[in-house]
Amino acid sequence: MLDVEKIRKDFPVLQNAKMQGKSLVYLDNGATTLKPQCVIDAIVNYYSNLGANAHRGDYDLSLEVDQLFEGVRTKVADLINCQKEEVVFTSGTTDSLNLVAYGYGLGHLNEGDEILINYSEHASNTLPWFEVAKKTGSKIKYIDLDEQGKIILENVKKAVTPNTKLVALAQVSNVLGYEIDLKEIIAFLHSKNIVVVVDGAQSVPHQKVDVQELDIDFLAFSAHKMCGPTGVGILYGKMSLLEMTNPTRYGGGSNARYDKECQIKLKEIPTRFESGTPNIAGVIGFGAAIDYLNSIGFDAIHKHEIELRKYAISKLKQVDKVIVYNENSTGPIAFNIKGVFAQDVASLFNKEGIAVRNGNHCAKLLHNFLNTNQTLRASLYFYNSVEDIDRFVEVCKKGDEFLDAFF
Ligand code: ALA
Repeated sequence: MLDVEKIRKDFPVLQNAKMQGKSLVYLDNGATTLKPQCVIDAIVNYYSNLGANAHRGDYDLSLEVDQLFEGVRTKVADLINCQKEEVVFTSGTTDSLNLVAYGYGLGHLNEGDEILINYSEHASNTLPWFEVAKKTGSKIKYIDLDEQGKIILENVKKAVTPNTKLVALAQVSNVLGYEIDLKEIIAFLHSKNIVVVVDGAQSVPHQKVDVQELDIDFLAFSAHKMCGPTGVGILYGKMSLLEMTNPTRYGGGSNARYDKECQIKLKEIPTRFESGTPNIAGVIGFGAAIDYLNSIGFDAIHKHEIELRKYAISKLKQVDKVIVYNENSTGPIAFNIKGVFAQDVASLFNKEGIAVRNGNHCAKLLHNFLNTNQTLRASLYFYNSVEDIDRFVEVCKKGDEFLDAFF
């Protein structure tokens, strides 16, 4: 069992922040996570004691920054089990997915090809593909969700045609939180020579993800959803696919030489994808976040979240006014209070010091499936406690008070 009380002391926001004069219950971890002191210290250390740019200087401080920066690439590679050259630093999951779409998709999709997505995908794994489809003449098609809202192999098989060239899907969706069986789905798709792009923004922070075991082609995720700073993301790509990917940004740091005839000789992978001064402090902070999460253990993190979620669901089931849309998932809890607008419920949570997200959660195609425009989302992380859930459920019980107040 995790010692949550001890863990919570590592997070200054949990000690310091108040909402409406009340101590904070933070249940918006799907949007971003809080940062432990060690991550903040790593960032402050870079700005206070190092300060130099990366990959540009031959003086001691710059070389020290290079070592720290490249050391984080190795930590990421160890985390997801790949080569460090297959790890590209980006500004976040959205940036990573755009790099795959424009850098790989644009050059390898043609008129009549099909890109498969699904209705539960986040905008970041939908809109870049819409744009690439428009530019290449390829078609967007959808994998049906099952009755719970999950992607299952059977429906993937139904959606694939001889024209399917690429499938983009989240390992864990950001609203319903179902984990898909990537291993069997990818094995099937690879048997048809289809490239698989995985949005890992909601999976990598919560469980061990091994790109080799799952045979993932491209994987995107963000540091800020796993205790790291905002503005840092990762694109993993198999080396053979990164070799077929064009940079989407050109500039300093990524080229070996160029001439007045406009010939550019790019540097090796992954440097060629990282033009411009990177988010050095952010990357170094991400390294500290990875060390911190490893010290707690991804298996322990996942187990704690699953147990806490089960506890929350068992309590919510006792509250008649609550509709839960994804009882059997292991991710965020998507819910509503019957007859009450989600935004109004979110403001009641706010009044009680509880942060949850409401709205469509950037997955604007999903709400037709759920038959509602808006949901509330409580997303947990390993620092959430049973007391957090108890306070959350108490507010859900106040659904009746809402009906008095708004109707
Ligand atoms: N993509 C983040 C979320 O789902 C912001 O909330």
